[in-house]
Order: sequence, then C-alpha cells, then structure tokens
Amino acid sequence: MPDRSVFLLLFIFLLVILPVPSEAVKDYLFKKCDQSGFCHRNRHFANEILEQGDSYQPRYSIDLATLQIDDQSGTVDGILLKQLNDGTYVDLSLKIAVITDHSLRLTVDEIDRDVRVGGNVTTPVNKVRYNEASTWAFDGKDPKQLKFTHELQSDSLILHYGDYNAQIQLYPFKISLSYKGAEQLIVNERSLLNVEHYRTKVSEDDANSNDVAPEESTFGSYSDSFKDSKGDTLPLGPESVALDFGFVGYNHVYGIPEHADSLSLKDTTDGEPYRLFNVDIFEYPVQDRYQMYGSIPFMVAVKPGSSAGIFWVNSADTYVDIKKNGEEDMVDERKIIIENSSRSSSSSVQTHWMSENGVLDVILMVKDTPAEISRAYGSLTGYVSLPNMFSIGYHQSRWNYNDEKDVLDVAGNFDSHMIPCDAIWLDIEYAEGKKYFTWNKDAFPNPERMEAKLNETGKKLVAIIDPHLKTGYSVSDGVVKERIAIRNADSKDAYKGHSWPGESVWIDTLNPRAQLFWNKQFANGSQLMGYSTNLHIWNDMNEPSIFNGPETSAPKDLLHYGNWEHRSVHNLFGLTYHEATYNSLIERNSHIRPFILTRSFFAGSQRTCAMWTGDNMARWEYLRESIRMCLTMNVAGFPFAGADVGGFFHNPDMELLVRWYQTGIWYPFFRAHSHIDSRRREPFLLDEPYQDYIKEALLLRYKLLPVLYTQFYKASQTGLPIMKPIFYDSPEDVGSYSIDDEFFIGDLLVRPVMEENQTRVSVYLPDEKRYYSFFNLSTSLQGKGEHDDVEAELDQIPLYLREGSILPTKQRYRRSTKLMTYDPYTLYVVIDSDGHAGGDLYIDDGESFDYRDNEDHLYLSLSVEKGKTISSKVIKGDSAKPFVASLSRTKVESIVLVGAKNVGSTVTVHQGGKSWEAEVLREAPGIVVIRNPKMSINSAWTVEI
Ligand SMILES: *[C@@H]1O[C@H](CO)[C@@H](O)[C@H](O)[C@H]1NC(C)=O
Ligand SMILES: *[C@@H]1O[C@H](CO)[C@@H](O)[C@H](O)[C@H]1NC(C)=O
Ligand SMILES: *[C@@H]1O[C@H](CO)[C@@H](O)[C@H](O)[C@H]1NC(C)=O
Ligand SMILES: *[C@@H]1O[C@H](CO)[C@@H](O)[C@H](O)[C@H]1NC(C)=O
Ligand SMILES: *[C@@H]1O[C@H](CO)[C@@H](O)[C@H](O)[C@H]1NC(C)=O
Repeated sequence: MPDRSVFLLLFIFLLVILPVPSEAVKDYLFKKCDQSGFCHRNRHFANEILEQGDSYQPRYSIDLATLQIDDQSGTVDGILLKQLNDGTYVDLSLKIAVITDHSLRLTVDEIDRDVRVGGNVTTPVNKVRYNEASTWAFDGKDPKQLKFTHELQSDSLILHYGDYNAQIQLYPFKISLSYKGAEQLIVNERSLLNVEHYRTKVSEDDANSNDVAPEESTFGSYSDSFKDSKGDTLPLGPESVALDFGFVGYNHVYGIPEHADSLSLKDTTDGEPYRLFNVDIFEYPVQDRYQMYGSIPFMVAVKPGSSAGIFWVNSADTYVDIKKNGEEDMVDERKIIIENSSRSSSSSVQTHWMSENGVLDVILMVKDTPAEISRAYGSLTGYVSLPNMFSIGYHQSRWNYNDEKDVLDVAGNFDSHMIPCDAIWLDIEYAEGKKYFTWNKDAFPNPERMEAKLNETGKKLVAIIDPHLKTGYSVSDGVVKERIAIRNADSKDAYKGHSWPGESVWIDTLNPRAQLFWNKQFANGSQLMGYSTNLHIWNDMNEPSIFNGPETSAPKDLLHYGNWEHRSVHNLFGLTYHEATYNSLIERNSHIRPFILTRSFFAGSQRTCAMWTGDNMARWEYLRESIRMCLTMNVAGFPFAGADVGGFFHNPDMELLVRWYQTGIWYPFFRAHSHIDSRRREPFLLDEPYQDYIKEALLLRYKLLPVLYTQFYKASQTGLPIMKPIFYDSPEDVGSYSIDDEFFIGDLLVRPVMEENQTRVSVYLPDEKRYYSFFNLSTSLQGKGEHDDVEAELDQIPLYLREGSILPTKQRYRRSTKLMTYDPYTLYVVIDSDGHAGGDLYIDDGESFDYRDNEDHLYLSLSVEKGKTISSKVIKGDSAKPFVASLSRTKVESIVLVGAKNVGSTVTVHQGGKSWEAEVLREAPGIVVIRNPKMSINSAWTVEI
C-alpha cells in the first residue's frame, strides 16, 4: 500500500497550485444578454419603447375583418398585423384558444414563411418557424378546447368562460385576463411584442430598410460576433419572438428553472435577465441568473386569493427580464382599473420573455391557489411518474467506483455498518475507453454476476450512458451509417465534436429511427444490459455538452431530424435523449419501472426521469442553494429533484457533510456523488460521532419512505410539489413568500440547518396551528411567525409534525427499500384541538406497472373523528389483487397518539367483522402508544380510543 503521507503532500501541493474553483466559473465562455443578438435587440427595443413612453405608436393590431370566432370549439383565429415603416404590413397568424383547465393559449406565427424565405436561403434548413416544442412538452395529446361566449366591439373582443374574462384589444394588441372579476394578467402591457419577420440582408446598414423599425437594433442579425459563436451561419437572419406579461397585484414570481438563485425570483432591471439555455456550466456560481443544465419556461405568481402561471412553450435560447414595481410582501388590495386604450396602467410584476426563434406559443393560467396552477400545468405536460421504490432510497455514487470488487465492497460495507443503501453508481470510467454500451472487461469481467450479487440485498446498479459517442466503434459507426446523428449545417455529414472520449458524434434523438437504434443497444442480451433486471441508467451531458463547441454546447446551425436547426430545439434536446432511453428500457422490459437520472431537461421531463442540480461544490452556500433549487423544481412541475450530497467538487469537512446528509434526506432524489479528485467519503468510512449522525439521518429517510412515496403518488395524480414551499399550504400568508430555507413534505415541516457553526435556528410558522417536534412530541411550537432559538445541535434536525395529521412510518432497519416491502407500520397520530386528524397512505409493489395495468394498489385515508376513533378506509384498491392481497401479513405495529384525551389502558380494534383489545402505554403527558394493535394494512379498520 502506498504511503498515505505522499498523497497528503500531493494533495496539499495541488490545493496550493490549483485556482479556487468558486471564483473560476468561466464566464467568458457564455454570452451575456448584451452579446447575444436577439437578447441585445429585444432589450434595446424595450428600452426605446420605454423612453418614448405614451408617444410610442405600437405596431401590432388585430385585423377585425379577419377574425373568426368559434364559441363552440373555443377558438379565435385571425390576422395580427405588424406595421412596417412605410405603413405596409406583415401578416401574422393569430390563434387564441381556451383550453383544458380554462387556460388561455395564444399562438402567433408568420404566414407562409417558407414561401417567403423561398430560394433566398439555399441551405437545407427547415424554413418554417419551429412549432413542435409543444409536441415534446405536452403529455402526448393536444389539450382539449373549451367553449366560451363572446362580445365583439369595435375596439375589442371579450371572451367569457367559467369565472374568466379575456378582453382582447384590437389596437394596440393587448389581452387583459380577469378571474372572478379581478384583472390578473396583461399580455403585451408594455407593447414589447416583437416577431422578427423574415427579411433578407440588404446592406450593411439595415437600419434604413423598411423592414427595420427605428426602435429596433440590427445587432447580430446576420452574424454572431461572440468569440466562440463566430461560425454561426444564421441562415434565417433575425427571427426572434418576444412578449411582455404583467402580473396584476402580484409581488412574487417563481419557477423558470434552472438557476442557482433564490426561490422568489429577483428583479433583473440592473443586471442580466434570467437565461434559459441548457449548458454544461462548469463550476457554477450561486445566487446568480446564469443559464444551467436544464430549462422549464414556466413561471408561477402567488398572492392572497389567487395564483397565476405563464408557460412559454419555446425550446430556443430564451431570456426573461423581471421588473418588480410593487412593494415586497405588501398585500395589494387596490382595485386596478384598466383604461382600455392606455398603456399607463402598470402591473406590479412585469416580465419580458425573449426567445431566439420558433413560433410564439404561450399558455396563461389563473386559479385560486398555487396548487391548482401546478395541477393545470401538469395536466398539459404530464405529472411525475410513480418512481421505482428503490429510486427514492439512498444512492451512493462517485466518479468512479473502479471495479467489481470496489462496487461490491462499498455495497457490503453499507450492510455491515447497518446503513441502508439502494443503489451503487458507475460514472464514465466503467466503459471501455468511455465507449458507452461497452464494459471495461478487466475491471468488470462479469457485470451480470456483480448485479446479481447486489440484488441479493435488493440493491441496484446505475450506469451512465451519455449522448456523445466516440468515433470509430460499432455504436457511433451505426449512428453515422444510419444517418441518425446530429448533422452539420450543410446536412451532409455527422457533426463531430469533443467530449469525454475524445472525438465524438451525437445521436439525434429527435429522429424516430434513432429510437429503434437505441432500443437495440439496451435490448435483452446486449453487451451493456445482458439479462439484468437491476441495472438502471444515468443520462448525463445531454445539454448537449460539447467541450469545443460554442458556450460548451452544439453550434446552433447544426441540423436535426426534419432539418430543424439546433437553434430551435436546443433546450429540448436533453428531453428527447432521456425519453429515448426511457422508451428503450420499457421496450426491453415492460414490467419494471425504469429509473433514469438526467442532467438536462425541459418541460415534460418530469414524466420519465429524475434530475439533479449538476456539479455543485462542497461549500455551505451550495448546500443552501440546493434547497432553493429543489423547491423551484417542485414549483415548476418537476419534483423528482436532488443535489449531490456532500458537494461534487472539493472535500467537505465533517460538519458540512453531516448537515448535508441531514438536508439531503429531504431531496426527493437523494444521492451522494463526488469528483474523481475528492477523497472517499462513504458514510461507513467516517469517524464517530459523524458516522452515527449520518446513519441516523439515513434511517430517518427510510422510516419516512411511506410518507414520501405517498407524496409521489399524489404528485403523480395532481402535480402537487413533493417538497412544498411554505406558501403552498398557506398562500394567504404573504410572510412566507420569500422563505426558501424551510419547507413541507406532506404535514412535516422541515427546517434544515445549512449554516456553519449553527446550533440554533429560527423556524417560521405560517399559521396558528401547533407544530410538534418529531423527535420530542412533548414539545411544540405555536404562533404564526418566526420562532427563534430552536435547538439544532449537530445531531439534530428541526422537524415538526403539524397538528391534525397522521403520519405512516416503517421503523425497522433494512439493507434496502426492497427488503422493507412487507414491514409493519407505525402511525403517528396528532389530534388537533377539535379532536380531528387526517392523513393518507399509498402502497403498491414499488417496482412493476401492476399498479397501473392491474390496479394492484392501495390508497388509504386515515382519520380521527371527534377524538374517539382512529380509522382507515380504503379509497382505492381491491384486496383480491395479488399484491394487495399479499399485504394481509403487513400489520400496524404501533400507534403513537398525541393529544388524545381520557384514553384507558386498553383500546378496542375492529377489522373484518372481528374485534380485539390492544394495550396502551403512557409515554408522557398527552402522549400514549397503542402497542401492537395488529390490524392488517390492506383492509379497513377502526380503533376506539
Ligand atoms: C429573395 O431574393 C430575390 C432576389 O434574389 C428578391 O427579389 C426577393 O425579394 C427575395 N425575397 C425576399 C422574401 O426577400
Ligand atoms: C374604451 O374606450 C372608449 C373610448 O375612450 C370608451 O368609449 C369605451 O367605453 C371603453 N371601453 C371599455 C370597456 O372601457
Ligand atoms: C433478485 O433477488 C430477488 C430476491 O430478493 C429474486 O427473487 C430475484 O430473482 C433476483 N433477481 C435476479 C436477477 O437475480
Ligand atoms: C427481456 O427480459 C425480461 C426479463 O427476462 C422479459 O420479461 C422481457 O419480456 C424481455 N424483453 C423482450 C423484449 O423480450
Ligand atoms: C466556525 O467556527 C470555526 C471554529 O471556531 C471558525 O474558524 C469559523 O470561522 C466559524 N465559521 C463561521 C461561518 O462562523
């Protein structure tokens, strides 16, 4: 064994000579708005219009004569006119539809664009504006259209549907959306609508052209001056779409991940807009508006009484500016009166959305609560799918576990230290020369043997498969030969760039033929998969990350299937890639729920995978950021989110590592991962007392898996977040709108400690309910507002149970979730002052699709009535189905009862026509434990107390 001190010296040496990464985000690699053609032009446009104020003559109007209004099918079609300098017009198609959940959809496109572009563009590029972002984002179907009634006036069209009115002003074009009589959203409030119609480059100085308005800039219209993007041929010239939306009476907006920023989005007036552009952002800074690995162009606004959402269905490079006019956290009860032709009324949050190209397609939602907005967004894009149970257990990863022995040793060490673990991960080094779908046979001579060994304790293997395929081996050769690679701008050859394996090509998963090819790579008997049933997949680098590409990604003029430019589909490429993997895994084995982790994502990604927040650092600020980012993902309909526990880069000290585990157990996706240069830090390697603290945290996660799985079930039905920002449950409490270091999971209130040296924290309560400390039910907090000085020593996690709730847990240590399947339940029942409590529990086999295909599942409602009875009712489920039937052996082994009055020394249990007594133990004043009441979990029961 080499002398460790040599390594230590080497390590110290490296620490001294290497630059400190947190300062090292290579921002020169990425465009600022000012350096990006379309962002520069649209911000310029906005500033010019703002300066002109009321003297500005807006250019967009609806041509009344063209309006076709169909009350029954719920659509308005017509022509939106864009006036040019000489008074002539460009015709744009306008479509407004009332869709599912009373959302309002607005679509604007250029009419006959392909004809007008015609032969002026001789490359094979598709000349139509990209209109398939919704096809990928939506859940496989076009939304339903709903009826409305309308009033047509000389200057406006008003649509009435449900509790809504949409007042569509013809000139200047503007839409005011009201809900229950109050104005909520104003479209084109500031006249920032901009559809850059097709125009040919006439001369160096286009500003004099009829096509370019005085308020427009021509910056970067036909060429890109940014260092690494100079090769962009921009075949179609300027073609951006931009529009502004005002939120009336709202002071807080959320969403539009992915950014390492606060939960409540910031005013961007004095800096960069939030950018949505999927990139491999190496060593990203926190509290910043940089683009990151994924994009969901969906924003949610919250105020007391209502909530609003904007879903900007566009997959091109996008920037969003936010201007806040209202006072922070001030409830705005003012009735804002709109004057129908003036732009002077101003909403309290104004947003300006700018995309490089594509059709303008946006969906507006207004509801009573943020939870209803989540549901409406999910009804369009799909809800998170019910995960394979193992995937909400603990995942152990690092770059890299070296060989079969290493993998099995790590797994075995978890078991021998009695620390639960569900999966061991393999990063890029397992494959031969980073050629995915192969194994390095020296290190992994028999992957199926290794997987079978892991399976003995219910553990899984997760291996990485990236979209860059090293040139010169069977898989990449196949991709080139079958013409399913992303192609160069001239469409002739597969694009070649550099990534981990060196020169590579990228599979174009927009191409349906790529799916068939991908299926073969994952098939039964393939080299990668063999006949394994416990190998799952990690899709990384799918932004796509290209080391020598502009902004670390693909040149925007590359071509995809359909000759769509990469420019148009950039932000959804990652989704097409992980969906192809999902489809291949289903094709291979339709019985097992696949698990896929993705780094890049788009609206709709929640349907098929989990995400994590990429390459963070072992620093306190990244720990705090992880919660803000996960909460934002939850607001944006993608709750299966997590961050690398412990930090990817660098080595955390023990305090940070303990706090990270205590925080990470609340991530819906819970994985420890680290860089190849980091020291090993698997929990079983750590010294005491830290190992014990971390083990306790992990055991808590496993105890609470029934709660977490039930939350996943509900999210899969309703789109509700799993990690809920405080305001979700109490949107009337403006005091909670900015809180992003505390959250709910079901009825559990969690306030993780995320500051160094902190042993006391303050806990915010959003209401007057009593909150019981989970670890000491004799203590509680009550009273809306901050509660300072709550104890939080290094072995403590501030965790509270809301009164009136029932929490199902499983208390026994097992080596994996699989081995917990039939474990008995302990229920925590916290009765409120009215004698009530309620909760729920969802159960299925945790790995197959029988819950869906055979309805072999169980959904229970648990309740306490008038302080007298605790009961379980079956809401869904059939005890004759095989798995539900097998649950008859799973019992309730204990009920911890808080707040019950006058409980005797025994209670009577009723189930299935039989009755029996169970013993009651007194724990502390107000707390009793019903010992071993023995009812089976799979049918209704009542306990009389
Ligand atoms: C295309 O180019 C021809 C000249 O080559 C020009 O006459 C025509 O106006 C151009 N079309 C457009 C849409 O600009
Ligand atoms: C819109 O403005 C016109 C002219 O100022 C006025 O006559 C009309 O009543 C207004 N309509 C509404 C709905 O306020
Ligand atoms: C995995 O282990 C389970 C027992 O936990 C067993 O039923 C199953 O056949 C095993 N699968 C494989 C592929 O070894
Ligand atoms: C692959 O193997 C699994 C497990 O042995 C089997 O259930 C499945 O049907 C096979 N898939 C195909 C496509 O034959
Ligand atoms: C935490 O305590 C250590 C040791 O007392 C000290 O060096 C460090 O600066 C403290 N950190 C903070 C953030 O206060």
